[in-house]
Amino acid sequence: MTTAAARLRNEIGSRTARVGIVGLGYVGLPLAVEFAQSGFTVVGFDLDARKVDAISNGRSYIPDVPTADVSHLVQTGRLSATTDVALLAKMDTINICVPTPLRKTKDPDLSYIVAAVEAIAAHLRHGVLVVLESTTYPGTTEELVQPLLERTGLRAGVDFFLAFSPERVDPGNGTFNTRNVPKVVGGLTPTCSDLARALYAACVDRVVPVSSPRVAEMVKLLENTFRAVNIGLVNEIAQMCEHLGIDVWEVVDAAKTKPFGFMPFYPGPGLGGHCIPIDPFYLSWKAKQSGFESRFIELAGHVNGAMPRAVVGTIANALNRHRKSLNASHVLIAGIGYKRDIDDIRESPALDVMGLLHQQGARLSYIDPHVPRLSGKQWLGGYDLTSCDIDAVASADCVAVLTDHRAFDYDKLVAKSRLIVDTRNAIKQRHAHVFRIGAPAPDQTASAALVGAGAE
Ligand SMILES: NC(=O)c1ccc[n+]([C@@H]2O[C@H](COP(=O)([O-])OP(=O)(O)OC[C@H]3O[C@@H](n4cnc5c(N)ncnc54)[C@H](O)[C@@H]3O)[C@@H](O)[C@H]2O)c1
Repeated sequence: MTTAAARLRNEIGSRTARVGIVGLGYVGLPLAVEFAQSGFTVVGFDLDARKVDAISNGRSYIPDVPTADVSHLVQTGRLSATTDVALLAKMDTINICVPTPLRKTKDPDLSYIVAAVEAIAAHLRHGVLVVLESTTYPGTTEELVQPLLERTGLRAGVDFFLAFSPERVDPGNGTFNTRNVPKVVGGLTPTCSDLARALYAACVDRVVPVSSPRVAEMVKLLENTFRAVNIGLVNEIAQMCEHLGIDVWEVVDAAKTKPFGFMPFYPGPGLGGHCIPIDPFYLSWKAKQSGFESRFIELAGHVNGAMPRAVVGTIANALNRHRKSLNASHVLIAGIGYKRDIDDIRESPALDVMGLLHQQGARLSYIDPHVPRLSGKQWLGGYDLTSCDIDAVASADCVAVLTDHRAFDYDKLVAKSRLIVDTRNAIKQRHAHVFRIGAPAPDQTASAALVGAGAE
């Protein structure tokens, strides 16, 4: 181990290493707080002055991070935030947690990583550890980040250290958090791995070293592709069940009693968030570069991408049974966050469903305790909306439950609504006015029962 590496190793061990986190969003802020709570002095860097101001004032804007924690860490000098990238020069370790979206063409958009790495390169010193955490295709650390940093004349693995460690945070998950989810780490060299491992071991319960950054990058994409493909499978099974007059929710609940070889996934209105709808396409793009066609990813993307339209079909069908057309009907969307109990609407399928309903002439409103406002720019309808009160469901021709937030009073929803389409099986009791995706329509169940009784 070189002198620089040994020094950094000691600084990590004694918590005197100064930790910089670039990008203070859903991933970066929880990580910054975790490092600070472990005894490091942490500086968060973000281009968004509002986030920097919030932290400077001791306030959290991420639901999973309590304001009390941020406030305490800021007051005790353990955590600070800045927009000034020149302060990167003072950091001993730097974690990059910036967005990795897709372009409209579904190609990776690495512009945020490039901008962050260029800022780091401009202030890079001897002996610093740089860890990329943003989800990206295998090869990014070695093919993109390393050359950008080496333009400084410093050599990776010798003058500075480089690793990839995928972030696995699951916003809104009350059980698993940054600390108790094992952290996979792949360094460019054994020394890089050792340093990155030591850094994370200081604040997470378990570190899982792998042989290279490329393997660590692939681990994350396997995990998220696994989810996308299995959700695609169950969404297809749901539509098959609907066609066959079988309740998919009952099928999955029974199948999951098998103690081995099965893992439950549930149907829904489509994929959402900054990970599952996007990450698999980073992998298929990279595979395509080397002439490999990833058929599962494309197929899952196709099935999942068709779900918002399928949900609109179910809503139209339900209204039709109530002798109403989508055109001019008032549809109230219950839940627009991309998943339960969170405020994130990035890639939310609810926005797609709303846009399609708007195109068909429906009037839209919504209720979501986590998202008080939806601006016209955020959905295809183009007009601003504010979250309604639960009593508003009584005035809707149809209520579509797209996200099963725990804060909803489902009994009240059922009692007050004229018609409901439930895409999450949030309403457990069967009711004549509640339609569910992946299940027979309520009146079909009744007639099937009658036919069955007649046949006996
Ligand atoms: N959100 C999740 O659940 C989740 C889970 C696992 C992995 N990830 C991955 O982690 C990465 C970050 O995701 P996120 O959800 O935290 O994104 P986010 O949009 O919530 O946060 C990213 C932050 O980076 C800032 N930023 C962008 N460019 C910057 C720059 N050059 N310098 C400083 N700050 C910059 C943005 O202003 C923003 O605050 C992505 O690659 C994502 O795929 C996200």
